[in-house]
Amino acid sequence: MGDMEVTIKEEARAEIKIWNYVFGYAKIAAVKCAIELGIADVIENYGSPMPLSELASALRCEPSRLHRIMRLMVHDRIFKQEPINQHTVGFSSTPLSRCLIKGGEKSMAAFILLMSGPTCLAPWHSLSARVLETDHNISPFEVANGKDIWSYAEANPDFSELFNNAMGCKARLTVQATIEGCPEVFDGVENLVDIGGGNATALSLLVKAFPWIRGINFDLPHVVAVAPKSDSIENVGGDMFMSIPNADAAFLMSVLHDWDDEECIKILKKCREAIPEDKGKVIIVEAVLEEDKEVDEVGVVGLMLDTAMMAITNKGEERTLKEWSYVLRQSGFTRFNVKPIRAVQSVIKAYP
Ligand SMILES: C[S@@+](CC[C@H](N)C(=O)[O-])C[C@H]1O[C@@H](n2cnc3c(N)ncnc32)[C@H](O)[C@@H]1O
Repeated sequence: MGDMEVTIKEEARAEIKIWNYVFGYAKIAAVKCAIELGIADVIENYGSPMPLSELASALRCEPSRLHRIMRLMVHDRIFKQEPINQHTVGFSSTPLSRCLIKGGEKSMAAFILLMSGPTCLAPWHSLSARVLETDHNISPFEVANGKDIWSYAEANPDFSELFNNAMGCKARLTVQATIEGCPEVFDGVENLVDIGGGNATALSLLVKAFPWIRGINFDLPHVVAVAPKSDSIENVGGDMFMSIPNADAAFLMSVLHDWDDEECIKILKKCREAIPEDKGKVIIVEAVLEEDKEVDEVGVVGLMLDTAMMAITNKGEERTLKEWSYVLRQSGFTRFNVKPIRAVQSVIKAYP
């Protein structure tokens, strides 16, 4: 193919692709609508392909508008359409639609509702202001909501509950991948402190998989005050910049990416104080971005997550291997290694 032909093809593709940016939100909104109406739950419980008329009456929806939402999601392979008989088709579940079931094993419903709700959507409007270099550059979240995300969550219990449930969704997937892909990291760990552990979803799964572990779920006081109680997990409230409860190992999942290097170094130094010098370790579960390399489908999620950190947190960011190395060495860790797992995140094991 000549250069001219390539250019014409690229231009034709661009004319189509640009519509994804014009109407990309329609897909997010359709999925949000599906979660709010409980579409995936009803189709899953029906047990066989469900006709539109029955779906509409079960959900008390207007059939033609429901059909239009379903058509978009079937196109996106969120639901399947399968024959019921020669003349009728019905909707069936897929692995993707099961992610929309509220409270389901692999549910991401709360995370989608969090990110597509007004509090987390509004900050995106100030992304360009954030990217500009200015002296007084406050985070898009604060511009939109008047407070940083942690103070906002403290003042708004409903938002805090949604945030913790959303993190719980992600934790279920990432912790399962950690248990499968890196179980050896928990060998010999009798007590484990999960820093920024939220509603203790991660620790509950870890103590179940590794029953010799006693867990300490450490988070801000208003978060642990409403965290579920259990025999093998102690909830402790505090501020990780001040002091962290002692344990054989410290676990930090999706916490350091909320902070800049200087803040991460402070947190990691507090972790060092909390673990034994000889056999202690810090287990970090975070994305490790590729450096100047074409990224795959999973890598793109890391890039989107990084952009979300710019919108939602004060100074958070995802990091490359080189950037992790800098932060860990500055915090006094002499060695570390990275193990990729079946997730956007990898497991980084750091030793004093
Ligand atoms: C992005 S969430 C991650 C939650 C959980 N680790 C997970 O991956 O599902 C970050 C957590 O850090 C907690 N956090 C924020 N500031 C903190 C502080 N100063 N001390 C302790 N925890 C803090 C938040 O309340 C929140 O639960």
